[in-house]
Amino acid sequence: SKTFRIAVLPGDGIGKEVMPEGLKVLQKAVDKFGLKLQFEHHEWASCDYYAKHGDMMPVDWKERLAGSDALLFGAVGWPDTVPDHVSLWGSLLKFRREFDQYINLRPVRLFDGVPCPLANRKAGDIDFFVVRENTEGEYTSLGGTMFPGTDREIVIQESVFSRIGTDRVLKYAFELASQRARKHLTIATKSNGIAISMPYWDSRAAEMAKKYPDITTDKQHIDILSARFVLQPGRFDVVVASNLFGDILSDLGPACTGTIGLAPSGNLNPDRQFPSLFEPVHGSAPDIYGKGIANPIAMIWSAALMLDFLGRGLSGDEQQPYLQAHDTILKAIETVLAQGPRTPDLGGNSNTVALGDAVAQLV
Ligand code: NAD
Ligand code: IPM
Ligand code: MN
Repeated sequence: SKTFRIAVLPGDGIGKEVMPEGLKVLQKAVDKFGLKLQFEHHEWASCDYYAKHGDMMPVDWKERLAGSDALLFGAVGWPDTVPDHVSLWGSLLKFRREFDQYINLRPVRLFDGVPCPLANRKAGDIDFFVVRENTEGEYTSLGGTMFPGTDREIVIQESVFSRIGTDRVLKYAFELASQRARKHLTIATKSNGIAISMPYWDSRAAEMAKKYPDITTDKQHIDILSARFVLQPGRFDVVVASNLFGDILSDLGPACTGTIGLAPSGNLNPDRQFPSLFEPVHGSAPDIYGKGIANPIAMIWSAALMLDFLGRGLSGDEQQPYLQAHDTILKAIETVLAQGPRTPDLGGNSNTVALGDAVAQLV
């Protein structure tokens, strides 16, 4: 049967602290369910590597990773030594584009035991997905500066909305909504203010909606949509958004569930032509790095998402152990969040390793 090759890239800061906990839990799942994973560890895609080599990755990074079935990624960025646009466009954003990981799937769930910043909510009241476009939109390096250094300086930054790029993320979101009980899709837009790209986005969404008559949709401008994440989080089921709006919503959503230290993500190439990448939503958190207190759940949940995605690429009997491993890890996360131990972002005084151990013990 198939052995999956997993490239492990911890990156910077707390990426290096949470990755071992993710691997610890994965190893338990491998042993328990007889999964076939082969890990390849890389120290590049990090600002440490940049300090030694003047670049974020070796020139042949793509060949080295192309044979992987998935990338498990911590976080990149150490702005004290490397500017963020250099480190991120030199690593994570390259993976997303070169491996055509055009979906960024970001689950948002409230768990029992996690103090919710919004009053009187319990597990089940907040449970939605942010489906973020991940290869174009507002994230481009198209544009330039005219009259640089003068008082007539003008900076232009383009956005890109291709028909293929727009339609495929909308299609993914409609498909995901059709698998959910509530079958509801919220379309994030800003067609009142952004006069070219967003009306186009709206029109493609309206076109796609015709193919999914059993899905209810609502279109919301990003400003009020953000407000409703806080005011009425229960109304969301699947939310589809452009690259930048999806980025913002996928920090705001988890914040409404108590902490971004829980939030996982899958950067998916659903067509499976290229490896997909699984990582926490959060970054390298320089402010807490070295203290050993980062919450490892986002990393662990991301690893579980990886198993689910890999499993769904197999057929019949081979699929089951991977889906079971995902469910078992999720159950373990739920139990630990309900009972402790807790890292400081959850209001506790426990540490990264203790949470990783607690989850691993239940797998
Ligand atoms: P951040 O997500 O790193 O941190 C934001 C805040 O959340 C900090 O106060 C941090 O301590 C806290 N936090 C984050 N993860 C946590 C965890 N697991 N447990 C407990 N608390 C946690 O965002 P930032 O400060 O804007 O960025 C820091 C660096 O990370 C920058 O270089 C940025 O570009 C980079 N970054 C990388 C990624 C990525 O690799 N996917 C994502 C976001 C930011
Ligand atoms: C994320 C991050 C990245 C993004 C940054 C670090 C480039 O915030 O994965 O959400 O904006 O996509
Ligand atoms: Mn982000």
